[in-house]
Amino acid sequence: MCGIIGVLTDRPAAPLMLDALKRLEYRGYDSAGIATLVNGGLDRRRAAGKIAALEAVLDAHPLAGVSGIGHTRWATHGPPTEANAHPHVAGRVAVVHNGIIENHAALKEVLIAEGVRFDSATDTEVVAHLLDRAIAAGRRPEEAMAAVMPRLRGAFAFVVLIEGEEDLLLAARRASPLAIGLGEGEAFVGSDATAMAPLTRRIIYLEDGDWAVVRRTGTSVFQEDGAPVKRPERVSSISGALIGKGNYRHFMEKEIHDQPEAIAHTLHAVIDPGTGTSTLPSPLDAPNVSKITVLAAGTSYYAGLTARYWFESLAGVPCEVELASEFRDRDAVLPKDGVAIAVSQSGESLDTLMALRHAKALGQKVLALVNVPESTIAREADGVLLTRAGPEFGVASTKAFTAQLTAFCALAVALGEVRGHLPAARVTALREALAALPARAGEVLHDDDRFHPIAQELSRARDVLYLGRGLSYPIALEGALKLKEITYIHAEGYAAGEMKHGPIALIDEHVPVVIVAPSDGWFEKTASNMAEVRARGGRVILLTDPDGAARLGEGADHVVVLPAVDPVVSPILYALPVQILAYLAAVEKGTDADQPRNLAKSVTVE
Ligand code: G6P
Repeated sequence: MCGIIGVLTDRPAAPLMLDALKRLEYRGYDSAGIATLVNGGLDRRRAAGKIAALEAVLDAHPLAGVSGIGHTRWATHGPPTEANAHPHVAGRVAVVHNGIIENHAALKEVLIAEGVRFDSATDTEVVAHLLDRAIAAGRRPEEAMAAVMPRLRGAFAFVVLIEGEEDLLLAARRASPLAIGLGEGEAFVGSDATAMAPLTRRIIYLEDGDWAVVRRTGTSVFQEDGAPVKRPERVSSISGALIGKGNYRHFMEKEIHDQPEAIAHTLHAVIDPGTGTSTLPSPLDAPNVSKITVLAAGTSYYAGLTARYWFESLAGVPCEVELASEFRDRDAVLPKDGVAIAVSQSGESLDTLMALRHAKALGQKVLALVNVPESTIAREADGVLLTRAGPEFGVASTKAFTAQLTAFCALAVALGEVRGHLPAARVTALREALAALPARAGEVLHDDDRFHPIAQELSRARDVLYLGRGLSYPIALEGALKLKEITYIHAEGYAAGEMKHGPIALIDEHVPVVIVAPSDGWFEKTASNMAEVRARGGRVILLTDPDGAARLGEGADHVVVLPAVDPVVSPILYALPVQILAYLAAVEKGTDADQPRNLAKSVTVE
C-alpha cells in the first residue's frame, strides 16, 4: 500500500513528482523514490524514511528528465530500506507499485531458475523482471503488458516507465486505486485525483482489471482480457492547494480543532438547516429496510459500533457492524431488503471496498459514508452520503470520526421519524441536541489546558485501560486506539461490565483507567465499575458532565467535566477528550502524531 505518480510532460519531472508524493504521503511514508528518463536512459533516486529524506537526496543529486514515475512506500514485503524503495528496475523497465502481487514467490522461483538476479526483497520486482524479459524477447511494451497481466494475482496497481520510451507509461489496476490525468500535451497517472490536482482536473478512473497505455497525446484502456474499453473522463472537484497546519503544531491538532465545523457541515448534509427537515439518502430511503449492516475498518468501525445503538434504539432497525477484513471470511446471512453502509474516511480502504462488493453480491444495496467524494467506495456504492469534515491528513482519524458519528446519528433520527419509531417531540429534541453540538465541542476545545497534567500522566504509563458502557463503549475503544497508534503505549478499550472478566487483573497503581461516563442510563453501573478500579488501587481519569462529576468526582484522581448534552449525542462530544489526551500524550512523549511509525492513513492492502 503506497502512493504512485507518473508524469509525461515537457517540464522538469522531478519537482512535479515530489509535490505529488507529498500529497500521497497519507498512503505510506517509510521510503520513497523517483525515476526519470535522462537522454532515453533510466535514472533514479531513492531514500529510506519520509519524503523529506528523498527531497534531501534530490537537492544533493538533482534528477533531470521530463518523463518519470515516483512512489511513497508503506512496506509489505521487505523492510523499509533504500534497496526495497521503489522504483524497482530490471533491465529497461522501472516499476512503482501499490498493493500485493500474491503469487510473487512462485513467479520469483521461476525467474530465478531462468537465471534472474533479484536486488530487493519486494514482491514488486517480479513485475519489472517479467516485463523486461517480455520486451527483451521482442514484444512491444503493450504486448508485454498483455502477456504479463494474466500471470499476476492479487490486489495491486502499478505504473511502468521504459528505457527509450519517452512518451509512454503503462498503468494497471486490480482493486487498488489508480487514475489517469489528462493535460494539454501532458499526461499523468496517480493513485488519486488529489496527487494530480495541481497538474490537471481531467481524470479517467481505471476500473478493476483495467490496464492502460498512456501517451501525451492520448490514453488507451484495455480490460483484463486485452479488449479495448472506453472509460469516461470526469472533472475532479479536488483543489490543488496544499492545505497547511495553520498555527497548529500538527495536522492532528488542527483537525481536532476543526471538529465544530466538521460536525456542523456534516449535519447539514442530512438535516436541511433552513427547514429543519431531513432527507434520507438512497438506498436508506427505501420503505422496507429490513436490516442495516455497517462495514468498516479502524476508527470508522468504531463509528459503526456507535451507530448500531442509534439505529436500534432510535429507528428500531436491526443493525450489525462488521469488521470489513473479517466480513468476507464468514458465511454472513443477510436478508432481502437489507442495506449495507460502507463507512470510510478515505473511501479507499481495500478491506472495506472488498466488503462492499461482497455485500452487493449478497443482494444488499450499499450506501457509502465517506469523506472523499471521488473515492472508489463512493463510486462503487449505490448511494453516497458525504461527511463534510474536509481533508484529513493526520494518520489518526479525528474530525472524520466525529463527522461519521454525526451523520449516523442524524440518519438514525431521520429513519426513526419516517418509520414512526420516534415521537415528533423526541425527533425535534434530538435535532436540537445535534444542532447544539458544534457549540458544545467548541467549549471543550476552548478549555484544553486542563488536559495537560492528565496527558503527562498517560505519557508515563506502560498500559492504559479505557472503559465505557452502552454508547460510551465504542468511545472507550476509540480512546485506546488513538493512544496506542500515536504514543505506542499499550492501551485497551473495554466494555465497563467486562472488566471483571479479565482486565481487572491488570489494575494496580501504575495503570491509569480512563472512564467515559456521561450521566446517562448506564451511569450507575459504570460508577460501580469505577469503584472496583479504585478498590484495587487503580488511578481513575473520569470523563463526565456536571451531574456525573457531582455524583462521582470525589472518587476519581482526575475529573474532566464536559458540557451536559442529551445522552444520545454524547459519544460525539466525548470523542474529543480522548483525542486530545492521546494527542497531548504524544506531544509529551515526542512521537510524531501526524505520521506515527508503521501506520498509513489509507490502507489499500488486505
Ligand atoms: C487506517 C488509518 C485509520 C483509519 C482506518 C480506516 O488504519 O490509520 O485512522 O481509521 O485506516 O480508514 P478509512 O479511510 O477506511 O476510514
